[in-house]
Amino acid sequence: MKKISPITILSVTIAILVVAVVGLLWFIKSQPDPIRGIPPITEISPTEPDSSVWGTNFPNQYSSYLLTADNNTRTAFGGSEPVQKLDVDPRLITLFVDYGFSKDYREDRGHMHMITDVESTERITDTTPGTCYSCKSANNVELWKEMGAAQYANTPFSTLGKQIEEPLGCVNCHDSASMRLVVTNPALERALEAQGKDWRSFSRQEMRSLVCANCHVEYYFEGAGNLLVFPWVKGTRIENISEYYQEIGFSDWTHAESGAAMIKMQHPDYELFTADSTHYKAGVACADCHMPYTKDGAAKFSNHNMRSPLIEPEASCGTCHTSVNYATERVAIIQQQVWNTMVITEDAIIEAALSIKEASKVAGVNLAVLKEARQLHREAQLRWDFIAAENSMGFHNPSEALRILASATDIARQGQLKAIEATGQGLDIQVNAP
Ligand code: HEC
Ligand code: HEC
Ligand code: HEC
Ligand code: HEC
Repeated sequence: MKKISPITILSVTIAILVVAVVGLLWFIKSQPDPIRGIPPITEISPTEPDSSVWGTNFPNQYSSYLLTADNNTRTAFGGSEPVQKLDVDPRLITLFVDYGFSKDYREDRGHMHMITDVESTERITDTTPGTCYSCKSANNVELWKEMGAAQYANTPFSTLGKQIEEPLGCVNCHDSASMRLVVTNPALERALEAQGKDWRSFSRQEMRSLVCANCHVEYYFEGAGNLLVFPWVKGTRIENISEYYQEIGFSDWTHAESGAAMIKMQHPDYELFTADSTHYKAGVACADCHMPYTKDGAAKFSNHNMRSPLIEPEASCGTCHTSVNYATERVAIIQQQVWNTMVITEDAIIEAALSIKEASKVAGVNLAVLKEARQLHREAQLRWDFIAAENSMGFHNPSEALRILASATDIARQGQLKAIEATGQGLDIQVNAP
């Protein structure tokens, strides 16, 4: 009998093994994908404004989102009570004289209240554009798609209001098919584009802050069409924003005391936080503090009850800080320091404005120098307002807040000196803030 060589045995064995492995791989590959988790209970349309529809699939996120309607705790410098800021700090009446914010300026509260609050503010008039709804509704995503951002902005507030029913909803932040975080406000999309950025390439952690920038930012209404624009072309620092407004010659109103062309800052929470704050540089996102993970039985989810983290700091800060007491004490110290510094800035700005007013009454006043003084009033106040209108009383970026306030105080005092210089009369016209 012919002996089978060991090489043949080995070759045949290898061939059989190869066939077996290839067959097995082919078999595995041709299996249908396993279904993981629970398939969606309800198919959700990509523009579904009604959050309760999304809520059937995601009951924990939905029910925590509903809680924003009931928050009413006031904190030292924030919280959910709609306190009239003009009563807390009457200097604001002079700072915003002749502008809507000197008539009504209330502390912000939970997301569920946004439509009621925007429709009831005394700042709304017959000429208010629909653009004011841009940060107020889940209906926007559909309306922007149907009408386009330009026509949306060109519709009067009262007309557009007939189509606005839902406050901020799931659709403002999530893609309904994948639940991925997405940018939905065309103004944010354009602002990023202008900086050469595309949010689709952002990391998940960056998106956990960027979704808030759909609304928690500085913005203005462009031209006669009132298109919503974020002034970010030169960057998002206050100096970049100021330079941009100067270049396009924009102002919100003319200050009745000084005659300066003024800018009102909105709520630059995203810009201040991302200006190299300690937390931002450490990779922390808005959602880490404002949407901490919560447990319901075995389910762990992001708490969609966005509010002051000081109400439940164990959940908001305790995930990273071993001593929550230490962390919240620091907040109290930082906020008090920023407040005290801010009041000093306000006095300086008011004294600049009133000095310009007095100087303008002096016969033979140097109008060119007075114009420079008015420019300094504008520059000082928009810097101060960047911190005043921001919602954390400096906590989102304490050192940047104090840097900006110091600069605002300096510019205001320069404005006051310019006003005096314009009269050529020395210090006689110096005034003190009331
Ligand atoms: C490290 C934690 C932390 C991060 C990150 C953070 N915040 Fe805050 N935020 C706070 C604290 C603390 C306050 C002050 C709350 C108070 O005074 O009651 C605050 C206040 C606010 C307020 C006002 C709340 C109120 O009660 O009126 C808003 C709005 C806000 N933050 C939005 C944001 C946005 C948007 C981002 C991201 C760009 C962000 N926060 C990032 C901790 C944080
Ligand atoms: C203001 C933006 C915003 C709105 C509005 C919003 N979410 Fe979220 N949602 C987030 C963020 C941020 C996360 C965290 C995502 C991450 O970590 O990747 C999240 C996470 C989730 C997740 C993933 C699981 C989890 O809990 O972390 C689900 C599901 C979800 N949201 C459902 C909803 C539903 C349902 C609604 C409407 C009731 C809603 N969201 C409204 C911002 C939002
Ligand atoms: C569609 C616009 C929009 C988006 C997106 C948005 N917010 Fe708001 N947010 C608002 C408005 C408007 C208010 C004020 C509502 C009021 O006062 O009636 C507000 C209020 C708040 C408050 C104050 C709540 C209170 O009880 O005082 C916090 C905190 C807050 N937002 C955090 C966030 C965070 C964090 C994100 C991102 C995860 C976010 N918001 C995304 C529009 C938005
Ligand atoms: C996701 C993690 C994370 C969360 C949540 C968080 N922090 Fe921090 N915090 C950090 C890191 C990281 C630093 C940087 C200091 C360090 O490396 O030890 C820091 C620094 C600080 C500092 C010192 C800041 C400075 O500029 O000197 C304070 C104060 C603080 N956190 C307060 C808070 C408070 C209050 C909360 C809750 C509202 C909070 N943090 C939530 C991670 C976090």
